Amino acid sequence: MSDRNTAEYWNPIYDDGHDWRQVCDAEIAMFTHHANPKPGQRALDVGCGTGQLARALHSLGYGVTGLEVSAAALLTARTRSSAQGPRWVQHDIQTGPPPGIPPTSLDVVSFRLSFQFLDGRPRILDMARGMLRPGGLLYLVLPVLERETLDAGRQSSALPAAEIAELCQGWHVDRWELGWMDYLILRSP
Ligand SMILES: C[S@@+](CC[C@H](N)C(=O)[O-])C[C@H]1O[C@@H](n2cnc3c(N)ncnc32)[C@H](O)[C@@H]1O
Repeated sequence: MSDRNTAEYWNPIYDDGHDWRQVCDAEIAMFTHHANPKPGQRALDVGCGTGQLARALHSLGYGVTGLEVSAAALLTARTRSSAQGPRWVQHDIQTGPPPGIPPTSLDVVSFRLSFQFLDGRPRILDMARGMLRPGGLLYLVLPVLERETLDAGRQSSALPAAEIAELCQGWHVDRWELGWMDYLILRSP
């Protein structure tokens, strides 16, 4: 069981002004190359933090919901976004699909540096699959335990390569690496 999947854990971190690795042009270029976004498609960013990826997806033309367990993270996300930007929802993804997201209604469900903190990961992946339209995709950014460039502080939340490979079974996978992270796009075959 992780202790890093609750608002009690994350709120003080965001209250201290903490943020994570910036969404860079290379990440968006690779995502765009593989996902081929079309205006009007819908995306859900799970564990959106201060909203970096959610805003980038909005700029690509997606109608975006940024989902977070931490109210403090969402406060910053709202402050950094325009009123026309993503919709922000406070919700613990481990309790089930978020309100207002019907089954098979999304083109993208993303977990950028958030999936590794969740309990019951295969079940969460199945739930995310249930929210996708036919042809939709999951986008996962994960720290990989075996990467030499992974620093000691990140080891406790990194996933073993074998677990990542197991999670990918039954999906069509596009995968690339940047440093200590795996970037994965999963589609139903
Ligand atoms: C390392 S941060 C990454 C934030 C953001 N995705 C980014 O790339 O900047 C992990 C995020 O996952 C969120 N999170 C953890 N458990 C969650 C849960 N059960 N439901 C929703 N969000 C959760 C945390 O609140 C935190 O903001």
